[in-house]
Amino acid sequence: MEALVAQYKLAHKSVGFVPTMGYLHEGHASLLRQSALENDVTVCSIFVNPTQFNNPEDFLLYPKDEVNDVLLLKENGCLVLFAPENDFVNEILEVSLDLKGVDKVLEGEFRPGHFRGMVNIVSLLFQIVSPNKAYFGQKDFQQLFIVQKLVAQNFPEIGIVASPTIREESGLAMSSRNARLSAAQREQATKIAKALHLAKSLAKEKRSVSAIKEELRFKFFNNDDLRLEYLEIVDAQTLLPLTDFSFPSRSVVCVAAYAGKVRLIDNMSINS
Ligand code: PAF
Repeated sequence: MEALVAQYKLAHKSVGFVPTMGYLHEGHASLLRQSALENDVTVCSIFVNPTQFNNPEDFLLYPKDEVNDVLLLKENGCLVLFAPENDFVNEILEVSLDLKGVDKVLEGEFRPGHFRGMVNIVSLLFQIVSPNKAYFGQKDFQQLFIVQKLVAQNFPEIGIVASPTIREESGLAMSSRNARLSAAQREQATKIAKALHLAKSLAKEKRSVSAIKEELRFKFFNNDDLRLEYLEIVDAQTLLPLTDFSFPSRSVVCVAAYAGKVRLIDNMSINS
């Protein structure tokens, strides 16, 4: 991979990079197409990084489909697939990055070690692929935020491109983990996006943060079929939970919930 990238650099070809954990879907496809539009060469990596899973079952059950992944890559302008073997994990080094507590809120609070593992693997991949631009989905809003901090500190030469969340017709945010949902769970899971949309309209009506959170909990997360882990309205600049809307800064509503054993996350900007 490093030798290939060196050749591209010599030939003055720009490299766009889409890091993934495989089981690719339309969300990944949109990142790949964007990269193919903006760069001479698009590289995708597939590596299910064990060090970013705090739940061993989630790691073991993470879906895989290499045949379909390769088809999707070919159809969406990707030229190079970097898919290292499992022992790639031994190459991962601990990166020092002061996240100032932002890795302890939201996902960080419920998935200890997740962002450390993510920062370490993304750093290794950035070193190897050395892209001009790297593409991340806004569905993983906090991941994107932390990657932007990582790049500002350690990879200022890499441009980070954030792409909007791609949703199914039902509104459910696309995720590789959706493959693990039963039909009934999938139906329950659509409530997450409905809750986010309602938050947006309630914010327009100038309802308070606490009133919005209460209404969402009551309307969408009042049973065990969809078990809420957190629901927060945060400042997009700091990721800190808001108690009041502080216009004009952007607020984002972030949710994590379990449909059965499948943990799903989603978010939406609510005053933009
Ligand atoms: O978003 C993901 O799929 C992963 O967190 C990433 C960025 C590929 C790192 O393993």
